[in-house]
Amino acid sequence: MGGKIPQDFIDNLITRIDIVDIIDSRVPLKKAGHEYKACCPFHNEKTPSFTVSPSKQFYHCFGCNAHGTALGFLMDYERLSFVEAVHELANLTGQEVPSSNPLGIHAKKHQATQDLFELLEQASHYYQQQLKINSAKNLAIDYLKHRGISGETAKTFALGYSPSGWHNLSTALGNNPASEHKLIQAGLLIRKDNGKTYDRFRERIIFPIHNKRGKVIGFGGRILDDGTPKYLNSPETELFHKGQELYGLYQAKKALRDIPQLIVVEGYMDVISLAQHGILYAVATLGTAATIDHINELRKTTQRIIFCFDGDRAGKQAAWKALQTSLSLLDGAAEFFFMFLPDGEDPDTIVKKEGKESFIQRHKESLSLSAFLLETLSAQADLKSIDGRAKLIEITKPYIDKIPGKNYQNLLINRLSELVSLDARDLFHQVKKKRQIPLEAQHKLAKVTKTLERVPSIVRFIIEALLHKPALATMVEDINKYVQLSLPGIKMMKTLVDFLTERPHLNMPAIIEHWRGTPEGEYLAVLASKEFHLQGDDLVIQFKHALERLQEQSVEQQIEHLLEEARRRSLNSDEKTQLQSLLQIKG
Ligand code: UTP
Ligand code: MN
Repeated sequence: MGGKIPQDFIDNLITRIDIVDIIDSRVPLKKAGHEYKACCPFHNEKTPSFTVSPSKQFYHCFGCNAHGTALGFLMDYERLSFVEAVHELANLTGQEVPSSNPLGIHAKKHQATQDLFELLEQASHYYQQQLKINSAKNLAIDYLKHRGISGETAKTFALGYSPSGWHNLSTALGNNPASEHKLIQAGLLIRKDNGKTYDRFRERIIFPIHNKRGKVIGFGGRILDDGTPKYLNSPETELFHKGQELYGLYQAKKALRDIPQLIVVEGYMDVISLAQHGILYAVATLGTAATIDHINELRKTTQRIIFCFDGDRAGKQAAWKALQTSLSLLDGAAEFFFMFLPDGEDPDTIVKKEGKESFIQRHKESLSLSAFLLETLSAQADLKSIDGRAKLIEITKPYIDKIPGKNYQNLLINRLSELVSLDARDLFHQVKKKRQIPLEAQHKLAKVTKTLERVPSIVRFIIEALLHKPALATMVEDINKYVQLSLPGIKMMKTLVDFLTERPHLNMPAIIEHWRGTPEGEYLAVLASKEFHLQGDDLVIQFKHALERLQEQSVEQQIEHLLEEARRRSLNSDEKTQLQSLLQIKG
């Protein structure tokens, strides 16, 4: 279940979304009566057997038996973990996912985080000021000028200068133990073994790193000459995780209303130099390879992602790595491109040399992911020979398998078929293994189906009714009246009633998700995918009847049990009274 995310939040979240929207934006649906249909994204088929029910908020494929809620769909279709899927849904509904810390701790931690943000903002301001007032400011200003950066661009990126000396920042911002401690936490001061502290950044051009909401989370500092290290960066802190942040994303979002594309470059200066030349849509991974987190963030912002690399061997290798990371995120929504610069150039040097238009021309001519993939793999096989073409199919397979988006897979298969001059459909069958229900899932299903057969129809009906109209739980006056019954499914029914009495506002998918990963969850999911036509008053009346019948059964069972006992031994006085009152109820 939900890990650190409060269960209540998840329950309510699922109640608020519409499965039709979630699926339709990924697998276009067609209306068919009260439901929606499509060809199943989880197995190969020509006639649609994948159905989405808006009333049940549930999907079911009659072909491969895939079924579930919107959350389950996201997990399977986008290959997200439970927690990731919850975040994705929360994003779609514009909600923040809370953490389940007890309120006090949460509030305290929140305050500490706010303080840290505030401090980093102050530090950034301090460095910016030094670029204006420090006695050595001309050194820094000349450096920036020499690199072609205007005052305006420097302002946009909040560039600054950290002067020489070991205690500038601590003097300005941290002149007591508490703030000193905070500055260490923020990565701006370093504590020596003897307990004394000193400024991390000295005599460097300062590049504040903003998160996408514009908060400063860390810094980079460039040396003014060719000393080493060339760049110094904030260490990983509570707020700064290098593998997640994209330098320049905040500025791009601020500058542009729509962001049809983003160019991913390596360094601070590449982003800034491109912006200086009017290309305001570059972001940097800060010297590290693009991670899944990076790409997910990019995908949230734009449809077209262009990775830009040096044309040398290292650049090609880095590009191949980015391609592999991107593959598993190819869902047809975003497109990836790869551009390679001439040897020895980076985006900064090339845009200076050739100008904006030429750079734009270069990224317009960049290779699509499929072209880059097939080009690279083709180089490993001799396409003139049959063996070579067979080899190409073989080595391309694992890459195609990694792609979740069906359309993208098909597109690649078509390209591949052109390359090897084989019919696309034949290839399709070779390359694309039909997705089967995994063995483990089959077993589980068989087991659940067995349990299902054993649950008497009346108990099953009550559970089904509760699934479809959770508020019915409030009509159950005393659940303990029934739990005496030894019937399969009774315990499940009690659990469900108890759960829903507290939360009558939940809907069916929320209930199913609550029991995700448990036998109960499987059982409920199977029930949910069955037809259920009762509603309104009819449903309420039938539900009441069912409860009454169940109570009768319970009474009968208890009477039988007591009579059975009485045959073997004499009943004690409690048992006698109980028997009497039971006989009276039965009437
Ligand atoms: P580069 O060495 O390509 O630097 O590193 P650059 O961006 O072209 O820098 P300039 O043009 O010489 O100023 C790319 C990125 O790798 C990280 C930085 O984020 C840099 O922008 N890097 C590089 C470091 O963190 N430390 C270093 O010492 C070098
Ligand atoms: Mn450079």
